[in-house]
Amino acid sequence: MIKVLFVCLGNICRSPTAHGVFDALLKREGLTDKVLVDSAGTAAWHIGKAPDARSQLAAKNRGVDLSYIAARQVESRDFDVFDYVLAMDKSNFENLIELSGPASRNKIKLFLDYAKNSTATEVPDPYYGGAKGFDTVLDLVEDACEGLLEDIRTNHVI
Ligand code: 4NP
Repeated sequence: MIKVLFVCLGNICRSPTAHGVFDALLKREGLTDKVLVDSAGTAAWHIGKAPDARSQLAAKNRGVDLSYIAARQVESRDFDVFDYVLAMDKSNFENLIELSGPASRNKIKLFLDYAKNSTATEVPDPYYGGAKGFDTVLDLVEDACEGLLEDIRTNHVI
């Protein structure tokens, strides 16, 4: 099984959005028993909480349910368990590099490295902004999820 971990700061906006969108894509493609998805935050503030209501609404408008996701913090064993550890922004990326050992370094990537229709390198934090920011997150996440699945199909036998 290929294991993918999406990481942002709070694990209540961006990474749970990616988690739900990628789960939905895998379901459509009949790959739920081949790829395992999870998400986590670098910060501990929101442990146990459901995704932000604004993220849930923006996702629901595109047919994606996020209500089953509960926030957790990144832990050191994640670097052993997961094959892909995908950061939403450069700050998350730097924090992950600091937390991980050198052996896990090549698992950690910026999630938008997989985006095909955008040149953006970071998924902007929507937490302190308006509703539009949450839609932007979904646009970027949907694009990069497609590219990520392509990468998994290219580099692994699933
Ligand atoms: P996320 O967004 O990292 O996409 O989950 C945030 C959620 C909460 C906070 C910051 C960003 N916060 O400051 O509580």
